[in-house]
Amino acid sequence: MSVRRLAEDQFQPTGFAFNAENAAWADATIRKYPEGRQQSAVIPLLMRAQEQEGWVTKSAIEYVAEKLDMPYIRVLEVATFYTQFQLKPVGTRAHVQVCGTTPCMLRGAEDLIKVCKSKIHPEPFERNAEGTLSWEEVECQGACVNAPMVMIFKDAYEDLTPTQLEHIIDRFQAGKGSDVKPGPQVDRIYSAPAGGLTSLTDSITPIRFNDAEVPGPAAPEAPANAAKPVTDAPETDPKLKTPATDKKAAAANTKVKGDNVELARSDKPSLEDKNRPAGIERPETPDDLKLISGVGPKIEATLHSLGIYKFEQIAKWKKAEREWVDGYLKFSGRIDRDDWVKQAKALAKGGEAEYIKVFGKKPR
Ligand code: FES
Repeated sequence: MSVRRLAEDQFQPTGFAFNAENAAWADATIRKYPEGRQQSAVIPLLMRAQEQEGWVTKSAIEYVAEKLDMPYIRVLEVATFYTQFQLKPVGTRAHVQVCGTTPCMLRGAEDLIKVCKSKIHPEPFERNAEGTLSWEEVECQGACVNAPMVMIFKDAYEDLTPTQLEHIIDRFQAGKGSDVKPGPQVDRIYSAPAGGLTSLTDSITPIRFNDAEVPGPAAPEAPANAAKPVTDAPETDPKLKTPATDKKAAAANTKVKGDNVELARSDKPSLEDKNRPAGIERPETPDDLKLISGVGPKIEATLHSLGIYKFEQIAKWKKAEREWVDGYLKFSGRIDRDDWVKQAKALAKGGEAEYIKVFGKKPR
């Protein structure tokens, strides 16, 4: 660990006090601890001071020490030990913390650091000319599955490429950091497998993690032709969206609940259903459907098998067609939640440039 010292006097303000809102919050926080244990509030109070000022000043340390009736040296020890406390001014719009621990390093953290050096400052903890951006390398942030990643304030941005990090930094520099959705910047939910499930795929879907659903495995490949391919499942009643045999199986299945995970079987609509969107012959240059958030390589292959190759096809899907595809992919509403139609319209109209104009970020 590097030596962590307070900033030089030239940076130190003459005093510190919580504003009214933070003072009330601090009093309420201190009251949560049993009598005689109020000093346990030292970390939350220091963090709140950092959020108010942007970094932890000497005056803030003295203020917290006085408020908690602690020796100044004890609060100084805490502030200089934990690296989440910034001891000198950082960028006012973003302080980018790049994880440089092994999994992130193996997955491209060095290239992310190069981006920070070129876009912000060659040295960590130094601010750019406007004082709005700074960066540092940090140890593991606990998102190794989604390596490489960065933290900016309280949010993690994961599965990053250098281009994506450049875009994120640009948004923060423009004061529009809130436009960028934190979390994985690729087609995956949280830390679910990129590109779809690789296990527990035996007709079990969807899997729920809290309020989000992880798409199940791609449906079995159907013949890759434009027109309606032959059905791949028995169908006793052509009006039913679900083959009778599947319904029977579904009824016999069990929902497993617990630990925020629900496994449930789902039905798959018939390929002969009238709501299935019309397909086309494979064009010479299919669109890269993976640019649509929610479409990975497996899902793209399944869409191709249905004769879906172009953004303009998806852009025209009506509700019933969206529901059919959603059911076929076992997405449980994700097509509408991710608004594939709006994404496809933008991509069909003007490619990535139009997508950025509409959504304020690059596709995928
Ligand atoms: S190694 Fe980077 S988050 Fe764990």
